[in-house]
Amino acid sequence: MSDVVSYELVDNIAVISVNNPPVNALSQAVREGILDAVTTAQGDASEAIVLHCEGRTFIAGADIKEFGKPPQEPGLPSILSAIEDSSKPVIAAIHGTALGGGFEVALACHYRCAIASAKVGLPEVKLGLLPGAGGTQRVPRIAGVKAALELITSGNPVAAPKAKDMGLVDEIIAAEDLKAGAIEYAKGLVESGAPLKRIRDITIDPATVEPGFFDAARKRLARRARGQIAQDKIVSCLEAAVNLPMDEGLQRERELFRELLTSPESAAMRHIFFAERLAAKIKDLPRDTPRREVNKVAIIGGGTMGGGIAMCFANVGIPVLMLEIDDEALQRGMGIIEKNYKITLGKGKMTEDQMGQRIALITGTTDYADLGDVDMVIEAVFENLELKKEIFAKLDGVCKPGVILATNTSYQDVDAIAAATSRPQDVLGMHFFSPANVMKLLEVVRGEKTADDVLATTMAIGKRINKVCALSRVCYGFIGNRMLGGYGREAQMLLMDGCTPSQVDSALEKFGMAMGPLAMGDLAGLDVGYKARQGRTDLPDDPKLYRIGTLLVEMGRYGQKTGSGFYQYDAETRARIADPEVEAMIKAEAAKIGVEQRDISDEEILQRCFYPLINEGARILFEGIAQRPSDIDVVYVFGYAFPVAKGGPMYYADQIGLKQVYDKICEFRDRDGEQYWQPAPLLKQLAEAGKTFAEWGSEQG
Ligand code: 3HC
Ligand code: NAI
Repeated sequence: MSDVVSYELVDNIAVISVNNPPVNALSQAVREGILDAVTTAQGDASEAIVLHCEGRTFIAGADIKEFGKPPQEPGLPSILSAIEDSSKPVIAAIHGTALGGGFEVALACHYRCAIASAKVGLPEVKLGLLPGAGGTQRVPRIAGVKAALELITSGNPVAAPKAKDMGLVDEIIAAEDLKAGAIEYAKGLVESGAPLKRIRDITIDPATVEPGFFDAARKRLARRARGQIAQDKIVSCLEAAVNLPMDEGLQRERELFRELLTSPESAAMRHIFFAERLAAKIKDLPRDTPRREVNKVAIIGGGTMGGGIAMCFANVGIPVLMLEIDDEALQRGMGIIEKNYKITLGKGKMTEDQMGQRIALITGTTDYADLGDVDMVIEAVFENLELKKEIFAKLDGVCKPGVILATNTSYQDVDAIAAATSRPQDVLGMHFFSPANVMKLLEVVRGEKTADDVLATTMAIGKRINKVCALSRVCYGFIGNRMLGGYGREAQMLLMDGCTPSQVDSALEKFGMAMGPLAMGDLAGLDVGYKARQGRTDLPDDPKLYRIGTLLVEMGRYGQKTGSGFYQYDAETRARIADPEVEAMIKAEAAKIGVEQRDISDEEILQRCFYPLINEGARILFEGIAQRPSDIDVVYVFGYAFPVAKGGPMYYADQIGLKQVYDKICEFRDRDGEQYWQPAPLLKQLAEAGKTFAEWGSEQG
């Protein structure tokens, strides 16, 4: 039939097989192949048609690489019509993940069967899109409007057995061989004279939808949209499914899909989709770099980070041994892990059994001699270089050869830690983000001597524990924390210049940050930054610098943990409340040191907070600390809650134009001093050449 779609008759059943690795995306050739095959089946001796895929998965969606290019015939809707209008029943046979346009193809079939491990879903929202081939019209017709809203606005897939309960799948195939099982199922349907079930023929009774349902959904989704615009349009499509005939609903869905396809938000989110996958690839490491076996992991230090890291491994079935200084510390660490799991249980996201299994995978010790059989060690003790060196020297003495030795340090020199062992080639950084069991990012820090197979194994382990990995070279703060310095500094400087804390935070939250930097400071504890500043000799001698943060700490206002910081916090709800006392204090301090306060626009707030990120990002690229601009975007989206709809700081800079960013930084330098604002040489070079970071990144290969 074609290179990617084949057709065969097995007895009275036509079998269409898609074979378009890696994920059977609906490229033009696949669409054409399916259309030809369905047409062929109409005229031959077959009595039913099974649509099945080779390889690891059923069709995982439209081919995202084709988005943004001129559309090519045949379009997906015409394939779906051909399937739905077939005179013989078409049965989708699902394994792996039937996602997006792939699941929409299955929904146009008359029957859907799946193996139990399969998943189905409509993840388009994660790309800033909505299902554009009938998903918003067909799912509510079979699963109800409420379930459709949850499925489509979350974008999360559901496992086949649950999909069957929801009415999305008709049959779970128990046979080992899905193709054979699906053929048997199809024969059964033919024998029993099963009707051509077309979802389009179902009508939704508007009375079944509670009054105000859509308005309430819009409001709820707007609260967590963070600059994303697809959710609201999904609600409009579901409204159309209830109130309009099928064809008009489909037309409405198509219009809104097209609008989203050309939106800057979707372009940014598609950038992040590919950036995430690219970040997992290390430029100078071949794909077939050997990997070491990792079947058991040890964590040194069961505090905030150690406990969360232990959970990441237990969650995927990898046994963990947690080492603490004494029994009391060990019990405390285990207690926190149990408490965290109980919260997940309470939310209904885990069963008692699953909780029990995961907790049983985490055992404790206070004795280094017990580390003899582990394959990987992750150290997460206090942030102290001497202590870390001491621990690595001990690990060197007790661990078997070939063990990967990782440190979760935020700032310390990974090479100095490696030098404390006789095996620096086995040492690297694994920098998790807090809370480690929740945050998606893992910065993998490549030391001067880290071996290739250690890196390849660590990137693979990162993926196995469901993290998004980005590679960093060694420097103070690695990619993410190094860039953050100017962001926090300017947030506080803006207060001296005339902003209130609420004004700074809300400008950044309107942009899409999950939490403004001052509220974030209150959450993390203002004493943490205060203590870190005590030891620094490199800070400019300027009375404005961090003045407010310092004074708040000296007043005993450490943030949420003491009930007040830049804001006051409601004791029960923890809601943040603007504090007139802090606002008056800021004014008085500015007057005291002779700073003339002024009105500051939201635009200036964004520029002053984000341009230091971009500028430091440019230095990081130039120095080769990050592999590519898009890796930095991945770090910020997955580690610092930078809004995905803005694509990360480097992508955002490209959209603004690097010349504009550069000129503004020069303007700030001339006004506020070069101790704070010095344009990075790479930024200057690209601004003058009229280039983007993305173009520079592609030139570097
Ligand atoms: N189009 C093009 N390429 C795709 C793709 C797609 N839909 N889905 C995955 N790929 C590529 C990836 O970029 C990656 O390429 P690489 O090897 O060159 O880096 C490769 O396939 C493998 O992908 P993963 O590394 O993600 O493999 P996993 O096994 O971890 O995950 C998956 C597989 C769950 C299918 C995951 O790739 C995924 O979630 N894909 C996206 C699915 C999706 O969003 N579908 C909806 C598309 S929009 C749509 O269908 C619109 C319609 O409504 C009209
Ligand atoms: P923490 O203070 O919560 O936990 C440290 C734990 O290490 C304590 O439970 C302590 O008893 C234990 N410990 C100390 N010395 C030990 C030793 N010799 N042997 C075994 N255990 C020992 O600290 P936290 O926040 O978990 O930080 C740990 C590391 O993770 C630090 O290097 C930190 O920079 C890094 N990190 C912290 C993040 C955060 O947000 N808290 C984020 C990312 C990294």
